[in-house]
Amino acid sequence: MLTIAISKGRILKDTLPLLAEAGIEPSEDLSKTRKLIVPSVCGKVNLVIIRATDVPTFVEYGAADVGVTGKDTLVEHGSDNLYEPLDLNIAKCRLMTAIVTGKKLPTGKIRVASKYVSLTEQYFAKKGQQVEIIKLYGSMELAPIVGLADCIVDLVDTGNTLKANGMEPLDFIMDISSRLVINKASMKMKYQQIKTLIKTLEVAVDNRR
Ligand code: ATP
Ligand code: PRP
Ligand code: MG
Repeated sequence: MLTIAISKGRILKDTLPLLAEAGIEPSEDLSKTRKLIVPSVCGKVNLVIIRATDVPTFVEYGAADVGVTGKDTLVEHGSDNLYEPLDLNIAKCRLMTAIVTGKKLPTGKIRVASKYVSLTEQYFAKKGQQVEIIKLYGSMELAPIVGLADCIVDLVDTGNTLKANGMEPLDFIMDISSRLVINKASMKMKYQQIKTLIKTLEVAVDNRR
């Protein structure tokens, strides 16, 4: 039995068609069920449904053999203990700094709101910019408007959320997409099943390019 960790939301929506091409289909509608472990129709896979930010933890500890999560989550978590064999090329966006439209950053130490505390720290340290980081769990775009922060570090896709809140992107930090991650021990113990999964997904991803 192979356990795959996956999160609800946009990653799930984009991952399900890829998994289907690998013959993995959930036995229940994941958007409706309250179950957190859902077997696949083929009976060879269990899907565990967790928060995106918990995927690296589950896979690192071997509670799941395989996981799908965003590069943002992986870098923020600092997942050195995982294999990351495949870019699934889904849930694509950019990690950026953003500011109230037309505003400039003040000189000296700035306040930055983000849910990516570690990424934010690393990014500004490299630039030699002193920062105070305000940890938020969502709706980052609100922070500069209400005077909680000078700028934010958040994901940008269409830019609609920024625009709708009178903000604009400032600096690009990194490109983001979702990745397949594998527990290191599982890779050894379940080599054939995981190797086949990686290969099939690789083809499915290539066919979509
Ligand atoms: P939660 O809603 O549980 O707090 P979350 O906000 O991380 O978690 P999602 O919004 O589904 O959940 O985001 C999951 C992943 O999808 C992110 O980590 C990122 O990799 C990617 N993602 C997030 N927002 C976008 C977006 N607007 N466009 C494309 N990809 C995105
Ligand atoms: C994500 C992200 C941005 C928005 C960017 O938020 O945090 O706010 O999408 O996408 P856009 O550039 O296409 O507008 P999400 O919708 O996931 O809300 P959340 O704060 O609940 O995570
Ligand atoms: Mg989100």
